Amino acid sequence: RWQDRVIADAERADPQARFEFDLQRSPVTHLPASWIGHAPAMRHYQGLVWYQRTFDATALPRGKRAFLRFGSADYAASVYLNGEAVGKHEGAFTPFAFEVTGLIRTGSNRVTVGVDSARTPASVPPPVTDWETYGGITRPVTLVTVPETFIDDAWIRLTDDGRIAATVRLNGPARDLPVRVSISGLSFELRGSARDGVWKGSAPAPRALRRWSPEEPILYDVRIAAGEDVLNDRIGFRTIEVRGHQILLNGNPVFLRGISLHEEELGRDPVRAITPAAARALLSEIKLGLNGNFVRLAHYPHSEVMTRMADELGLIVWSEIPVYWLVDWSAPATLDLARAMLRDNILRDRNRASIALWSVANEPPPGAARTASPRALSGDVRAPDDTRLVTAALLSGRKGKVATIDDPLVADLDVMAINTYQGWYTPDRLADLPGFEWHTPLDKPLIFSEFGADALAGYRDGAADPHKFSEEFQAEYYRQTLAMARKVPFLAGMSPWILKDFRSPRRQHPVYQQGWNRKGLISETGTRKLAFGVLAGEYARIRDRP
Ligand code: GCU
Repeated sequence: RWQDRVIADAERADPQARFEFDLQRSPVTHLPASWIGHAPAMRHYQGLVWYQRTFDATALPRGKRAFLRFGSADYAASVYLNGEAVGKHEGAFTPFAFEVTGLIRTGSNRVTVGVDSARTPASVPPPVTDWETYGGITRPVTLVTVPETFIDDAWIRLTDDGRIAATVRLNGPARDLPVRVSISGLSFELRGSARDGVWKGSAPAPRALRRWSPEEPILYDVRIAAGEDVLNDRIGFRTIEVRGHQILLNGNPVFLRGISLHEEELGRDPVRAITPAAARALLSEIKLGLNGNFVRLAHYPHSEVMTRMADELGLIVWSEIPVYWLVDWSAPATLDLARAMLRDNILRDRNRASIALWSVANEPPPGAARTASPRALSGDVRAPDDTRLVTAALLSGRKGKVATIDDPLVADLDVMAINTYQGWYTPDRLADLPGFEWHTPLDKPLIFSEFGADALAGYRDGAADPHKFSEEFQAEYYRQTLAMARKVPFLAGMSPWILKDFRSPRRQHPVYQQGWNRKGLISETGTRKLAFGVLAGEYARIRDRP
């Protein structure tokens, strides 16, 4: 499929030629998108799909290099250019790039990509998830040309002691180039010379610096120059830390008024193509609709379009890798794969002021193996990023009406986080929820990273004891769960499950679900349910309290 030839020409030239594919005469689609949107017949397909396109280019001038960069491909990709294999990648939610300097030619170039959405128990995530697999190339593909020595990574941030620090890494033969970091809006500049391809520098932040916050999401134009290469980024500067039970933003306690979100645009037939408009629509519902300042970008690294939009709108972000449920840690490659995803997620997004938390797991089942690996991942975060907080969404123990946070993983986290569904997945009466107590032996902040109940938008039940899946039940579930949350003295934030109904093959009640998880506070088309107003009211109260 990836050989550099035109099948129709080969067939015309040789009557004995036999091909059982021809990508050049196959149906045309537009990327980024998932194959769920290519054709109705592909709605439930899981497996390998081939893509091919040609593009015109000119041969690279001397001293230039070229890379093919993929924003993501779900789940594994094999990439070929002009008949040559250029690389393979596993993992659906982090970017990857392959150097194609020696392969780009003047005239028509042919790129072929095989994407396979099938996963195994040793995959990250494993095959069973409570969300749809959107197989395919779901984020943009770009051909990047750079100088022979270029800026491969530049991390610019505000440190806890009030300095602007820069770490710049070069890729290429010139290892000791002069480096310059400048922030025009602050008349601020750092200069130095790389040594063996790396340069680190810092200086006191200018007094004029206005720190990023949800209330004032200030971003500055930052220019990084090294040799012939220039990298521009828009970066916000703030500090985030914990003190006892509190999370501090720029030294001040902040309560995270949030909600969880899957990477799925509004609409009846999402294909997981997150444009700036799609991201703005979702995040504005949180910021403006719910009076929120926080979003848990659940279960995997979302598109950089989403994290940049959170920077711009002013929402604090919980970013997560898909170490989800029953990962088979016995396979030696699995931990390496999860570590690579964590590293790639951090390297992609550590200039995003909105991101405050890196999450290394969601509901890992009990057991020694499940603790060792997320514990290793927690330790991995500090090296590439010592400025953010480490967390994981865990389950709690329970004795009667006392919940205990006793997961051994908590010892390695900066912020504890618990998914709790009393009253939805348990027979507890909603009126009993405020009577629940939460205990922890640790002096750390807690986030309720999930709680929620399904409701089919439009299903109303005015009874005193409304049925599950009605909007009234979901609203009352929120009222009672929020009353419980108010009593937890070490609670520093919430990201209830979830802003928007989302596709899940596991949710097939023919009346209420039809393949959708209905815990959204809005339907898939954006209709607000009664519970939306309950949470918005609670967040307005928290925001405005003295
Ligand atoms: C779990 C899980 C989510 C899931 C949710 C639910 O806690 O983390 O991915 O969708 O609960 O049951 O709806």
